Amino acid sequence: MISSRLDKLRVKLAENGLDALLVSQAQNRRYLSAFGSSDGYLLVTQTGAFIVLDSRYIESAKKSLDKSLAIEIFEAQGDISKWLPNILSNINISNLGFEDSYISFSLYRTISESLKSLDKTIELVSSGNLIASLRVVKDDNELAAHSKAAEIVDIAFEQLMSRIKSGMTEKEIAWVLESLIRENGSGAVPFGIIVASGTNAAFPHFSATDRKINVGEPITMDFGARVDGYCSDITRTVCVGKPDSKLIDIYNLVLNAQMKAIKEIKSGMTGEQADEIARRVIEKAGYGEYFGHGLGHGIGLDVHEEPRLAENSTDTLADGMVFSIEPGIYIPGWGGVRLEDMVVLENGNVKTLTNAVKGMC
Ligand code: CO
Ligand code: CO
Repeated sequence: MISSRLDKLRVKLAENGLDALLVSQAQNRRYLSAFGSSDGYLLVTQTGAFIVLDSRYIESAKKSLDKSLAIEIFEAQGDISKWLPNILSNINISNLGFEDSYISFSLYRTISESLKSLDKTIELVSSGNLIASLRVVKDDNELAAHSKAAEIVDIAFEQLMSRIKSGMTEKEIAWVLESLIRENGSGAVPFGIIVASGTNAAFPHFSATDRKINVGEPITMDFGARVDGYCSDITRTVCVGKPDSKLIDIYNLVLNAQMKAIKEIKSGMTGEQADEIARRVIEKAGYGEYFGHGLGHGIGLDVHEEPRLAENSTDTLADGMVFSIEPGIYIPGWGGVRLEDMVVLENGNVKTLTNAVKGMC
C-alpha cells in the first residue's frame, strides 16, 4: 500500500513536468516512506528514491525501511550542499522540484548555489503541494489509526469529566487531560491542549493559564491524541455547576450549527459550501461576527492539513477525507463556546469519528 504512494507521486510529477522531487516536510517523508524522522530528505525520481538521513537515523532506517519500496539510504555528512551534488551527479534529471511551503529562503539559496557545482544544468522548480493532494484521502489503515485516536480522546474526556472541579486551574485540567490521553494509549499529544475558561474562552486559540475555574462559566477544551502518527482533534465546552441562560443559548446555537453541518455536508461539496451550512445558522441568530474562523480543517499525520472548510475554499470534499467540523462563537469580555468533532466522509455522508458526549454539565 505504501509503495503505491510513491507510484502515485510519480504520476503527479510527470503531469507537472517534474523529473524529481526533493521532499523536506517531515510528514510528507513519512507518508511516502513509512519512516519517521525529525530531520532528513527524500528524493524521488521516476525510477528511484533516496532517503538522506544523518547518523542518528541510519541504523533504524536500515532495519525498518520496507525493502519493497527500493529506497536507497544515503548518509548525510554536513549540510545539503555537501551531499546533494553527489546524488544529483549520478542521476539523469533536468529539473528538481522542491516544497516551496517548507523550505526557508536561506535553504533555497544553499540548494541553488550547490547545483552550480554540477557539470550539468538542473533547474529548481517550485512544486506546490503535490503530496498534500495524495494525503488528503485516507486509506483503510490510516482510517483505523484515526478511529483509535478518536476513541482515546472520547474515553479521556469521559474520565476527565468526573475529575473536573471549580477551583482547579486551567493548567491543572490540561495536565490531567494530557495524562489521561497518554494513559489511554496515545503517543505524544499532537498539539498543546487548550483549556480556556470564563472570559479566556473568547480566545479561540488560547493556551492554559493559572486561572482558576469558577462555577457557571464556559470552559473550552481542545485536545487530541496521536496513534501511529495519525491525529485526532476534538473540542468540548463544559460548565461546572449551572450555566446561565445566555451560555445555554449560545451553546445550543453552536450545537445546532454543528449538527446541521454534520447532517448536510456531502461529498462533492466545496469547502466553502460546507462552511456556509454552519455559518448561516450562526449568522441568522445574529452572532455571525463572533464566528471568526473557518468551519474545519483536514486532519491526518498533521493536525492541520487539506481540505479547508472555510469561506473562499475551493477544495472539493470527497469520500475518505478526514476533517474537523468546529463552529464557535467568541464574545470578547464574555467568553465563548466551540464544539469540534473529527469526521470522515463515507458513501457521500459525514460519519463522526469522535463521539464524546455533548452537553454543558
Ligand atoms: Co481542535
Ligand atoms: Co481543529
